Amino acid sequence: MTVYRNYINGRWTEPRSGRYVDNVNPATGEVLGRAAVGTEEDVAEAVAAAKAAFARWRKVPAPRRAEILYRVGELLRERKEELARKMTQEMGKVLPEARGDVQEGIDMAYYMAGEGRRLLGYTTPAEMPDKFAMAVREPIGVVAAITPWNFPMAIPTWKIMPALVAGNTVVFKPATDTPWMAYELVRIFEEAGLPPGVLNLVYGPGETVGEALLRHPDVHLISFTGSVESGRHVNQVAGAQLKRVHLELGGKNAVIVMDDADLDLVEQAVTWSAFGTTGQRCTATSRLLVHEAVYDQVVERLAARAAKLRLGNGLDPQTDVGPLINGRALEKVAYYVDVGQEEGARLVVGGRPATEGELARGFFFQPTIFADVTPDMRIANEEIFGPVLAIIKVRSLEEAIAINNGVQYGLSSAIFTRDVRNAFVAMRDLATGICYVNHGTIGAEIHLPFGGMRATGNGHREAGLAALEVYTEWKAIYVDFSGRLQRAQIDEVKIEDIG
Ligand code: UN1
Repeated sequence: MTVYRNYINGRWTEPRSGRYVDNVNPATGEVLGRAAVGTEEDVAEAVAAAKAAFARWRKVPAPRRAEILYRVGELLRERKEELARKMTQEMGKVLPEARGDVQEGIDMAYYMAGEGRRLLGYTTPAEMPDKFAMAVREPIGVVAAITPWNFPMAIPTWKIMPALVAGNTVVFKPATDTPWMAYELVRIFEEAGLPPGVLNLVYGPGETVGEALLRHPDVHLISFTGSVESGRHVNQVAGAQLKRVHLELGGKNAVIVMDDADLDLVEQAVTWSAFGTTGQRCTATSRLLVHEAVYDQVVERLAARAAKLRLGNGLDPQTDVGPLINGRALEKVAYYVDVGQEEGARLVVGGRPATEGELARGFFFQPTIFADVTPDMRIANEEIFGPVLAIIKVRSLEEAIAINNGVQYGLSSAIFTRDVRNAFVAMRDLATGICYVNHGTIGAEIHLPFGGMRATGNGHREAGLAALEVYTEWKAIYVDFSGRLQRAQIDEVKIEDIG
């Protein structure tokens, strides 16, 4: 059994609390390891280490910083299979998806390593003669990366890698449900030669460790992925201290199916994006807006397909859908199924925890579909974060777009159609940060901006070049080589004086 300790200033250290909590396999109930319960003092120590390390790290040439990221990418690639197997045990997603999660980390490592030789700023003419002007990117300082359990490798890399290549230092607080992956990732950074203090890891609950990071005056940037409620809190506390706050919050993503859609493709793609990762993605499809002409057919096809999905341990190649992360998640999904039934939606498949045989040991829930959902119902508005799909009948593209845009979230959306006009209207009018044509709502690639509109965040994006806007700030530099006082906006530049 592995014990995961905090990692502060290059050393694996005991938490000040002396306490550890079990890390449980959600498919089997087996205890995989024990993770430190960090304290406010541990956070203070980690922030002090990150602050001290920043003084040097910011001056290390970015291409040199990038070499370490490149090495991290190599190590992740070599260990991909081993890490994926550990991930499946730790948080339940099926093995091919766990491999994909590690792959996102590899992709991000190579992509951000490339940024080490760009990190582009710009030069621009100055308004006075014999004067030079440029804008350069500067790191911000100490970054707190607070990450969820559902992409325990990918999401930490989305935050840590751009932060580091830009010259920031990091305190990483992973979700309580996935300490193992955090441990493996930090070990890889250590092995890749990252200097002490540049990346620190503190385990523990949001209420104590997360809170201490939000409040610490030497933390300059908070990057948080989680629920809207927690995001609001992060914004209030950290925003009040004028920290930069990057938030990646919930989703209630919809797929629109038009009457001309390829229904075989719809069947496959929606099954994948609604029930993949057991519906536990911010990007999961949780609403399906189906044109009335194909509505009955689509409901029937998806229900038949969902009923055939095999639940089980994600390490078993026969398994289509793994468990939910923990008992609270199971209760939440069951609660929303009750809500849907009380609201008058028609349950067409699933609706119950799955407890046959071995499944009784884990947190399994049947893939569930509600039909005849109306846009005002709670199950059509609130994020469930489980294998539950709500199907709504629509009469036109315009109605579908209005329903899509009518919820508080705006992360990801999709349309299935063969009509180029429908596709372009949807691309123009769907109010989400990510939009797909003839593909489900999951599967974003790391070199494009990731994030959403309205309550899904606070206007920032991660991944892609957009990440640099989060992890750097601008410095404008003017160099006057005229040898005299030249007052911008005041002294007139006479063309005849230019020699
Ligand atoms: C998330 O669910 O928070 O686009 C991240 C996707 C993945 C990332 C999901 N590449 O579904």
